[in-house]
Amino acid sequence: MSLSPTDTPQHAPEHLHRAAAQYGTPLYLYDAAELDAALGRVRSAFGAARVYYAMKANPNLTLLRRLQAAGVGFECVSAGEIARAERVGAGGETLLVNGPAKSDAEYAAGARLGATFIVDRAEEVGLLPPHSRALVRVNPALDISTHDHLATGAAHSKFGVTLAQAPAVLQALREAGHTALGLHVHIGSAIRNAQDFTAAFARLADLRAETGPLAVLDAGGGWGLNADLPGIAREAWAVAEVFGADLWVEPGRYLVAQAGTLLTRVVGTKHTGRNFVLVDAGMTELLRPMLYGAAHPVSALWEGAEETVWDVAGPACESGDLLARDVTLPTPKRGDLLAIHEAGAYGAGMSSNYLTRSRPAEVLWEGGELKLMRRRETPEEVWAAEEV
Ligand SMILES: Cc1ncc(COP(=O)(O)O)c(C=O)c1O
Repeated sequence: MSLSPTDTPQHAPEHLHRAAAQYGTPLYLYDAAELDAALGRVRSAFGAARVYYAMKANPNLTLLRRLQAAGVGFECVSAGEIARAERVGAGGETLLVNGPAKSDAEYAAGARLGATFIVDRAEEVGLLPPHSRALVRVNPALDISTHDHLATGAAHSKFGVTLAQAPAVLQALREAGHTALGLHVHIGSAIRNAQDFTAAFARLADLRAETGPLAVLDAGGGWGLNADLPGIAREAWAVAEVFGADLWVEPGRYLVAQAGTLLTRVVGTKHTGRNFVLVDAGMTELLRPMLYGAAHPVSALWEGAEETVWDVAGPACESGDLLARDVTLPTPKRGDLLAIHEAGAYGAGMSSNYLTRSRPAEVLWEGGELKLMRRRETPEEVWAAEEV
């Protein structure tokens, strides 16, 4: 069995077996207690900061409703995400509309719901609906300690305005009749080195002489699961105070990753140059290993004396369809259950219908019961929009 260095699985093995038996595999299972605990950790670290959940991490309506009931707002980056926010009753103070290439429909939906917009480039000042509330996203142009695809605050990333442009964009917003609430910074996801936040916040603070005081400083998200939240919070509050601003934050992954487990059954084994354990989930259910080289902790839910090193391979006809590499497991046999941990963020939300695979069911473990959050799609649902 190979576990994360920091975490034990949130679910007891008997819960995992029960969920897989009841709903089949592949299956996403979320632990309600861990969802609540993660929000509790954020709240206790960040105190009075306003929390906006970056919905892209996992947009399931059950999760959104739980977060909304706990007073959390939403950061949305597409018309579909804005529609989800509306579906759960968010709007006004509880809605941020972000994205580097917003469509007319997204501006209109955001305006209708009274959202605050995050301006990503100067041209947007002229595209915003009249009298919008807006933050200006700043790119601090740093080397960010994460996978290149997850770095959004590097000089070569497509996000935000430059530090030099930011004061003028705030001023242009005011002149155009908008409410320029303040600055926004989000440097990337799954950031390994806390110094990156320190550096980004310091670059923002340097803008104070040019911007004057501001109402809001949005410090984004991107915290690793083992991040020192109190430390990041202290620094975020310090830069907010430089501007005399309220602090907003936008965690995604931190709020949902650890609560989620992907359950998959062993289909068989194969020995080529490597030892492969073949399972019924793959890149269509969990893309992160293939997309970002992400390493998810894996645990075997079967016993066995002999342990060997395996690569966990999915069913897709793609060589890159590996969920984990070099994991030590007891000898697997067909039907055994494997748990892939820290899969609650960017797991189900990134799952796809490639190969006409049905996206998996999602289930919540709460109060000793399993509650369906999303049923498994049928093939007919997958091709329904093609029946034209
Ligand atoms: C603007 C913005 N805010 C917040 C997030 C959430 O990041 P994470 O899930 O790493 O906390 C993202 C993710 O990419 C983002 O782009």
